[in-house]
Amino acid sequence: MSDRMVILGAGGLLGTVLAAQAASGGREVVALGSAECDITDADAPERHISSGDVVVNCAAYTRVDDAEREPDRARAVNETGPRNVARACAGVGARLIHVSTDYVFDGDFRGAEPRPYEIDDETRPLSVYGRTKLAGETAVLSELPTATVVRTSWIFTGGDGSDFVSVMRRKAAEGATVDVVADQIGSPTWVEDLVTALLQVADTGIAAPILHAPNGGTASRFEQARTVYELVGADPELVRPVGTDRHPRPAPRPPYSALSARRSAEAGLTPLRPWRDALAAAVNAGGATPGAGSLPSTP
Ligand SMILES: NC(=O)c1ccc[n+]([C@@H]2O[C@H](COP(=O)([O-])OP(=O)(O)OC[C@H]3O[C@@H](n4cnc5c(N)ncnc54)[C@H](OP(=O)(O)O)[C@@H]3O)[C@@H](O)[C@H]2O)c1
Repeated sequence: MSDRMVILGAGGLLGTVLAAQAASGGREVVALGSAECDITDADAPERHISSGDVVVNCAAYTRVDDAEREPDRARAVNETGPRNVARACAGVGARLIHVSTDYVFDGDFRGAEPRPYEIDDETRPLSVYGRTKLAGETAVLSELPTATVVRTSWIFTGGDGSDFVSVMRRKAAEGATVDVVADQIGSPTWVEDLVTALLQVADTGIAAPILHAPNGGTASRFEQARTVYELVGADPELVRPVGTDRHPRPAPRPPYSALSARRSAEAGLTPLRPWRDALAAAVNAGGATPGAGSLPSTP
């Protein structure tokens, strides 16, 4: 096992689960939220990072729609911040794992059949969020070529959060009818499985500049929602398919952004289980008392 793990953005969806799983595995963890370490402050990361640390940057501006009207803030957090972190790691000799997104792709296959994106497929982000996350990947790898960027997608929990699956669970418990987009295809990824992959990267030092860590298979949001309803014993017919045009949002989403884990597996990363199995495990593990929720904005 590697040395101390410093987690940035530790108060977020991913950072919280990573900090818990890393600590329960016996690792020394320094979990820093934005109040303890603001990565946009050029001097902040180096105050917390020491030689030999494994740093995992989970900090990001993730409000995909708000980013369209706050591009400077999104760029500061998603590009300048990761650059500051990478510089601090390079300065002291720390390892860096930086988390990125499927939204670096546009889902336009120019008339060819869509297929899960490989690591070196051309990136063409559609939104401010996607563009700033891509700029963050580039900044990290230019400051610290030994860093590893781990792209993931459609992260879900099974509990009482604000992610897509949590909200669908609450809707299902209420017996609510929901209209869910059927023309956005991606790779749903359970946060617990993603964390397992991140810890494997940290522990084994898989040497690849970019990895993809999605659960296996592809799904539309509609399929994912229907599966949640089925898993909790609600009527799946209450989930109705609609087109993206029925839910217009400020930031365009790629119609297809599934990630291929093939090259990551070749690099040594254990493939994550199929998303349906992960979703069943997540819903089983969830168990929190459902409360009311609104449709999430699906980063
Ligand atoms: N969620 C998804 O479906 C999804 C999909 C693909 C990729 N990703 C990527 O996965 C990573 C984790 O995302 P997540 O879902 O865990 O997001 P999240 O829940 O929004 O967490 C992001 C965290 O970053 C922190 N943060 C924001 N600005 C910061 C700053 N200047 N300095 C330090 N911390 C700052 C936030 O803290 P405050 O709340 O205190 O500001 C928040 O706790 C991100 O890189 C994201 O792009 C997520």
